[in-house]
Amino acid sequence: MSNESTTSSQTISSVLNEQRLFPPPRKFTEAARIKAADLAALQRRADADPVGYWADLARAEIAWRKLFTQTLDDSAAPNYRWFADGELNVSWNCLDVHLAEHGHRTAIIFEGEPGDVRELSYRQLHAEVCRFANALKARGVRRGDRVVIYMPLVPEAVVAMQACARIGAIHSVVFGGFSALSLKDRIEDAGARCVITADGGRRGGNIVELKTATDKALAEGCPSVETVFVLRRTGEAVAMQAGRDVWWHDAIVDQPAACEPEWVDAEHPLFLLYTSGSTGRPKGIQHASAGYLLNAKLTNRWVFDLHHDDVFWCTADVGWITGHSYVAYGPLAAGATIVMYEGAPTYPDGARFWRMCEQHGVTIFYTAPTAIRALMKLGEELPARHDLSKLRLLGSVGEPINPEAWMWYHRVIGKERCPIVDTWWQTETGAILISPIPGVTATKPGSCTRPLPGIFADIVDDEGRSVTTPGAGGYLVIRKPWPSMLRTIWGDNERYLKTYWEKFHNRFYVAGDSAHRDADGYFWIMGRIDDVLNVAGHRLGTMEIESALVAHPRIAEAAVVGRQHEIKGESVFAFVVCRGARPAGDTRDFERELREWVAEQLGAIAKPDDIRFADNLPKTRSGKIMRRLLRAIARGEPITQDVSTLENPAIIEQLRGQS
Ligand code: PRX
Repeated sequence: MSNESTTSSQTISSVLNEQRLFPPPRKFTEAARIKAADLAALQRRADADPVGYWADLARAEIAWRKLFTQTLDDSAAPNYRWFADGELNVSWNCLDVHLAEHGHRTAIIFEGEPGDVRELSYRQLHAEVCRFANALKARGVRRGDRVVIYMPLVPEAVVAMQACARIGAIHSVVFGGFSALSLKDRIEDAGARCVITADGGRRGGNIVELKTATDKALAEGCPSVETVFVLRRTGEAVAMQAGRDVWWHDAIVDQPAACEPEWVDAEHPLFLLYTSGSTGRPKGIQHASAGYLLNAKLTNRWVFDLHHDDVFWCTADVGWITGHSYVAYGPLAAGATIVMYEGAPTYPDGARFWRMCEQHGVTIFYTAPTAIRALMKLGEELPARHDLSKLRLLGSVGEPINPEAWMWYHRVIGKERCPIVDTWWQTETGAILISPIPGVTATKPGSCTRPLPGIFADIVDDEGRSVTTPGAGGYLVIRKPWPSMLRTIWGDNERYLKTYWEKFHNRFYVAGDSAHRDADGYFWIMGRIDDVLNVAGHRLGTMEIESALVAHPRIAEAAVVGRQHEIKGESVFAFVVCRGARPAGDTRDFERELREWVAEQLGAIAKPDDIRFADNLPKTRSGKIMRRLLRAIARGEPITQDVSTLENPAIIEQLRGQS
């Protein structure tokens, strides 16, 4: 499962040649929070004194219990620390700060998949968070303990996250679509003391049995778990283990609606979020409290131009970083009203999103290119049936948005009136780093435009030299630390250093993406440089899927590559070698079995779309799988690699599925 060396920057060359330019509409600019002069002033300040710039913002934007005296501690770089001697509480900053003046304002408008709607004001949300925080404490959960959250996208998921923040417990949200085994790995890696789940969630008309999966995970290990909180959502019968399992509603029944927050150091870990890397197990990305809060709040205001009368809908699940920064934390810190929706975008039909935008008066809508492409395929009639006139800003995240989808979003959803912010960032960066400022930046379909003030993004070649020729590709790097950067990988600082810093000797953060800049200095993201796939905007490690496949008793070897997919952006293509003879004849049943197997090991999102059987895999002389060759085959591209060293050249025909 090893691979040949990753793509070198010389081989990265740009193919896009997008010339269209969309300046922000005048009406938008007039009312925007950040105007051209504001942006220029921020940029000047950040360039002149980056550390002072972040210090000013941190003083102004965060309600500190104890103000910090040192802004950036780089004594253990690249393990940077921000505002380290300051003290705060993140939940206080998201909730309590609004109560006196805006407690009545709606914080969350929730719609369940069956159509149930619930609204919570800031005051109500605060009370729910305090009650649940007290329930956690009553079960012995303390500052620094890890809590795994495995829930549907319902308000209680945000309550659970905020409650952890309130008592200084470190949450790790596991996406509800991940399998019991993935859940178990994450619980064990984090050493979680407590799991918060639900009987189930609703998705696409089905029930996702979260409690059953939790039971399965716990039956196979996870000795650290003492308590499982179970929210009743679907009402299905579930097994409850006496002593360990407790219903959410029972746990909060006698709890007071006030809970003094735990004041924590700025660097106290706020959460872990597991994400795929190019090798081995998922890594627990560790974020700190104050720095994360600062960038999450600022980007909500700057990039989404949040005003108090806005209704902001970020469609991401809280199982991903987008659902952390633009659902659970950032918008609340900014005092916004958010929409949350539990289910599938196409349930019961493809107009669900547009109907909800109309019904809830959504003004800002933030989603992923994969959703835009899927909805685009269903035609223009569906959005046309709904009044989308309240929309004023659109956003995109997770993968490069192809110009065709961008133009559709602009024309059919935004009615050529709404700026589009294509936001580049990662689980590791905590918040948006490269994006248009909607009232200022002229956009180009497919470009995330320029870095935000204070973010020193660059593109460099293999030697770390800045690539300045327009259109020439290279590694996307960030030259200076920023407050919401990851602090480390939970339990594995070596891997942190190796993954993000080693390549250029700790000089800058290596994002793992390739990119190029055009003559206007706009950034164009070209994709990953490592063995990570981006399937429907979600990161999947090829190694993880390969390990899952070879865990099947009939599979001897596997290599996984990505292939372009019309809707998902990229899909999983697996080449497998069986133990014994290659399956002959109709292999559809076996393919189905392998797909289900992968879903069980990792979750349905990792299922291979294509599976091809071969007698062996093409390897270099040193025994490394020729992954680029496999990629060319999967994509039906001409083979440019030297195949003369292949032991069995006939294998190529077999890999192509032609023998
Ligand atoms: O390859 C980039 C792509 O998604 C990766 C980060 O994935 P993840 O940590 O799961 O976070 C996704 C949501 C922030 C990046 O390394 N990516 C993210 N946003 C964009 C993007 N690629 C192009 N354009 C974007 N706007």
